[in-house]
Amino acid sequence: MFELLARFDKDTDPRKVNLAPGAYRDDNGLIWLLPSVKAATAAIISLPTYEHQYLGIQGHVPFLRQAARLILGDVAVEAGHIASLQTSGGTGACHTGAVFLKKFHDVAGDVDVFISDPSWENHHAVFQHAGLVTKSYRCYNAQTRSLDFAGMKADVEAARRGSIFVLHVCAHNPTGCDPTDEQWDELSRIFKRKGLHAFLDCAYQGFATGDLVRDK
Ligand SMILES: Cc1ncc(COP(=O)(O)O)c(C=O)c1O
Repeated sequence: MFELLARFDKDTDPRKVNLAPGAYRDDNGLIWLLPSVKAATAAIISLPTYEHQYLGIQGHVPFLRQAARLILGDVAVEAGHIASLQTSGGTGACHTGAVFLKKFHDVAGDVDVFISDPSWENHHAVFQHAGLVTKSYRCYNAQTRSLDFAGMKADVEAARRGSIFVLHVCAHNPTGCDPTDEQWDELSRIFKRKGLHAFLDCAYQGFATGDLVRDK
């Protein structure tokens, strides 16, 4: 599939690259492995304790704890308010979250799930597959090539109580346009006031600013 995508990009127009799949490629369209990932893989494999033990259904608990600390901070983790589950990739995470919301939140079948326009191409399909109704919210101004914050805010304000908004935490796919800290604060106040739910899809932590901690 990756080869097909790479070929498709080159055939369409050699000056274009397809930025939608979240992977780095070299000039020949081949995957470029981050040196940090290569080094970590080598370090793990050379550990004397390295094995392929069958994991419990929750996943690898030490990994889950560290992931929660990275994304939500020590305070939230220590307070015991976090439930973590390992999934097969980001698609599996979105699917598991969507199924959970369908089962426990959309009991009456009247909840809207808002997805940014544009968004990662599978978002609508994943949420619809779980039985949820999806709609779009504005996030991009094609004229200014920047975040359409006014449009986004207006769509959030117009949503019914209990609606779910799928938000890209950082490095929005495919626009790369993220709200500022102040805009996130403003959005969170509207979410609280209106009783809306944020579904945070964090696919690219550290890829927006190059700093794992600074990225929102
Ligand atoms: C915003 C977003 N969410 C989820 C995914 C899916 O992640 P994975 O490829 O790990 O299934 C992607 C992948 O491109 C993505 O960009």
